[in-house]
Amino acid sequence: MTTYFSYPDLNLQTELKRTAEAIVAPGKGILAVDETNEGIGKLLAGVGLGNTEDNRRRYRQLLFTINNLSEHVSAVILFDETVYQKTDEGTFFMDVFKQQGIIPGIKLDRDVVPLFLSENEVTTQGLDDLNKRCAVYKKHGCRFAKWRCPLKIGEHTPSVQAINDMANVLARYAAVCQSEGLVPIVEPDVLLYGDHDIVRAQKVTEVALAALYKALNDHHVYLEGTLIKPNMVTPGQGYKKKATPEEIAVASVTALLRGVPAAVPGIAFLSGGQSEEEATLNLNAINRVQLKKPWTLTFSYGRALQASVWKTWAGKEENVPKAQAELLTRTKANGLASQGKYQQGTLISSAADKSNFGKDYKY
Ligand code: 13P
Repeated sequence: MTTYFSYPDLNLQTELKRTAEAIVAPGKGILAVDETNEGIGKLLAGVGLGNTEDNRRRYRQLLFTINNLSEHVSAVILFDETVYQKTDEGTFFMDVFKQQGIIPGIKLDRDVVPLFLSENEVTTQGLDDLNKRCAVYKKHGCRFAKWRCPLKIGEHTPSVQAINDMANVLARYAAVCQSEGLVPIVEPDVLLYGDHDIVRAQKVTEVALAALYKALNDHHVYLEGTLIKPNMVTPGQGYKKKATPEEIAVASVTALLRGVPAAVPGIAFLSGGQSEEEATLNLNAINRVQLKKPWTLTFSYGRALQASVWKTWAGKEENVPKAQAELLTRTKANGLASQGKYQQGTLISSAADKSNFGKDYKY
């Protein structure tokens, strides 16, 4: 077999690698605020507000105009309309990020669709015209992207069909992103839903990672210019006993060591329904565990950074400063956890121990 491998030209390689490394700079992580209009609509309804473009903008303004947000936040993941939204004063959010030194990125998957004749499994769509969408976002200042593809653990799932499809769709997306100068974050999300134990979650995660990196290699993806956003390895939410942060750390880092090449600069976990405090304690334990760790291990949380913000804001203008302080508390705690320096019981937010789990949660 003669195979000719090629990689992006050297300038593009350098740009992609620098961006990926900047996103996982020490003590920093990613704020995921790429809720779809439907997803954020549910959160707005929870604080008694209608799902209007202006209410979505007001909530995002609360987050993005926090002084010193960049102390522990290197990057933000946005949903399409946010790229074009402005502050009350008329400044594009994209310019606010530039002033703060925060790297903007874009969610590119167009949500889940059923896999035909599977046991309720799903895949994600959005590959058509992806190169054109990437070029537009790049022109507007985005430097990276994210694509999520979930896998469900059940008695007979995830199936070979679902695993191969996840790997292939993420690899095609990653290759297109790099061709347009965006760093792809690949998100194979083994869901928390189920009553399986941690051993099963670890095995499924390992199989998913092996398939994913084979596909990324087949598609000539330049790994140094990528990041991965995986689940932590935990028992299913319905399992009879919770695992300790130390157990989660050993299972997660072991699975990642077996599946994620050391060429990848960083791993930024999703929170997947964990409470704010759990997500911080688990990340902290992951960074403390005595195992090889060839990559930076940090956070890319949505719910586990925003639960207390929503609770405290409650849709009222007078609560904005307090809600902003909640986000700073969470980002500081997770910034410390990304270095294994968080002390349990410090930096507690108002929704710290509230579970954020929801079956078929709508992002
Ligand atoms: P959670 O941290 O709420 O799981 O969200 C992360 C995310 O961006 C999922 O795509």
